[in-house]
Amino acid sequence: MASTIVCLWLLFMIITQVVGEDTQSMIMSLMVDSTNCQVACLTQSQCIAATFYRSTFNCELFDNILNQNGNMLANMDATSMSIISGTRFPPATTTTTTTTSTASSTVCTCSQTAITIFGSQAGTSGSNLTLLSQPIGMYYDGPSNMLVVADFGNQRILRFSITNPPTVATVIAGSNGQGCNMNQFYWPNGIGVDSSGQLYVADFFCNQVVRFPSNSNSTTSGTLLGSVAVAALISINQLTNDIYVASYNDNAIYKFVGGSGPSVVAAGGNGNGNASNQLSGPNGVYYDYLYTNSLYVADSGNNRILKFASGSTSATYGTVVAGGNGAGNGTNQLNNPRSIVVDSSGTLYISEAGNNRVTRWLQNSSRGITIIGGTQGAAANQLYFPEQILFDGSRNLLVADRYNNRIQLFNITTAC
Ligand SMILES: *[C@@H]1O[C@H](CO)[C@@H](O)[C@H](O)[C@H]1NC(C)=O
Ligand SMILES: *[C@@H]1O[C@H](CO)[C@@H](O)[C@H](O)[C@H]1NC(C)=O
Ligand SMILES: *[C@@H]1O[C@H](CO)[C@@H](O)[C@H](O)[C@H]1NC(C)=O
Ligand SMILES: *[C@@H]1O[C@H](CO)[C@@H](O)[C@H](O)[C@H]1NC(C)=O
Ligand SMILES: *[C@@H]1O[C@H](CO)[C@@H](O)[C@H](O)[C@H]1NC(C)=O
Ligand SMILES: *[C@@H]1O[C@H](CO)[C@@H](O)[C@H](O)[C@H]1NC(C)=O
Repeated sequence: MASTIVCLWLLFMIITQVVGEDTQSMIMSLMVDSTNCQVACLTQSQCIAATFYRSTFNCELFDNILNQNGNMLANMDATSMSIISGTRFPPATTTTTTTTSTASSTVCTCSQTAITIFGSQAGTSGSNLTLLSQPIGMYYDGPSNMLVVADFGNQRILRFSITNPPTVATVIAGSNGQGCNMNQFYWPNGIGVDSSGQLYVADFFCNQVVRFPSNSNSTTSGTLLGSVAVAALISINQLTNDIYVASYNDNAIYKFVGGSGPSVVAAGGNGNGNASNQLSGPNGVYYDYLYTNSLYVADSGNNRILKFASGSTSATYGTVVAGGNGAGNGTNQLNNPRSIVVDSSGTLYISEAGNNRVTRWLQNSSRGITIIGGTQGAAANQLYFPEQILFDGSRNLLVADRYNNRIQLFNITTAC
């Protein structure tokens, strides 16, 4: 899979238009990793383009722009980047400035390819046990390497192994037609599993969260945890079993403390608005109990991610940690963010339905880097309305590629 990954670094927001550049003159070739290849080019005054070959760790520096539509993308082993004049450090024109450029101000556009671990690679929906209809919420079970998926359009929750894709799923809840009885769903959206293996399903249309025992199947009736108006994603703190649920309708994140009701407001709940104690149609919630001990909210209507301190209430003001600059595809913008996950470095990964992409935001950075997608489609490097994202035990990023009716696995360790 690694050999099919192409990553194109485009520095500092501007894509240089290349016209009729046929001859490239290489000024240097060295053995470094990809980051240092980029740095080497930035520090060499003549260098305006570089190509890094993953298989050999060879870094070639050029005094000429690469033809981005030609040979560069055809070579799947190569990562190429071009530099816009005036952005190198120190700038080519002077050696006295102390201006520095960091990775967080680098715009990187990747063309990462995925393998489809479940559903139709071509994007076709279906209702048998190898197909999906609009997957949304996911939960990854590390010990068994199994994935649980809310199959929104099929009114069921599926569980399957991701060890040897493609595989056949087991129905662990629902699949009894559309409805609000305790063995039915009407658009299951978010899901979570607590520390004792109980399954929680947020039902979008029935406005409720239902709990199922750990060994449930299609005939099992759940029990009502509580009402949540237009319930979206769920996140569970595995240390406390606090259950967080996004309410699209109430512009709030609710918390079921220790896994029981009634719920309390953990964020928002102050009307629809863009103040930092308000939310607008939030879809995603992620409580990071592992690293940052904070609550992250995909404030979808405000095109931003808010971070709240642990123990937050409706009175708590959040901090904007990504976006908040209007809907758009700029590097400081988001468009309909759906879900968030945070890694051990505090780096945020965000899925955006409106941009059909996943971006990565280094901690405290005001700009994101596109690591997956960016255009709508069903190719292996494209997404169509990505919903929940999460890491598996090998640090692959799994994406519920909603309108492509598939679950995509990206090995993001090698790119960017
Ligand atoms: C991801 O790619 C890296 C580098 O090619 C490789 O070492 C690693 O095994 C891959 N991970 C998986 C889960 O395939
Ligand atoms: C599901 O349907 C697809 C398309 O018709 C078919 O290829 C696949 O084998 C079916 N899977 C099962 C488990 O029946
Ligand atoms: C399904 O779950 C019910 C309990 O909810 C149990 O009685 C039944 O045996 C299970 N069926 C299968 C096939 O495991
Ligand atoms: C926030 O809302 C106010 C009032 O509705 C509006 O004027 C302002 O443009 C909004 N800000 C952003 C960043 O959308
Ligand atoms: C990004 O947004 C601009 C301005 O709306 C648009 O022209 C451009 O096509 C968009 N790019 C992609 C990849 O959608
Ligand atoms: C981000 O900002 C916080 C608060 O100022 C600081 O503690 C942390 O070290 C910063 N992280 C990085 C990676 O700069």
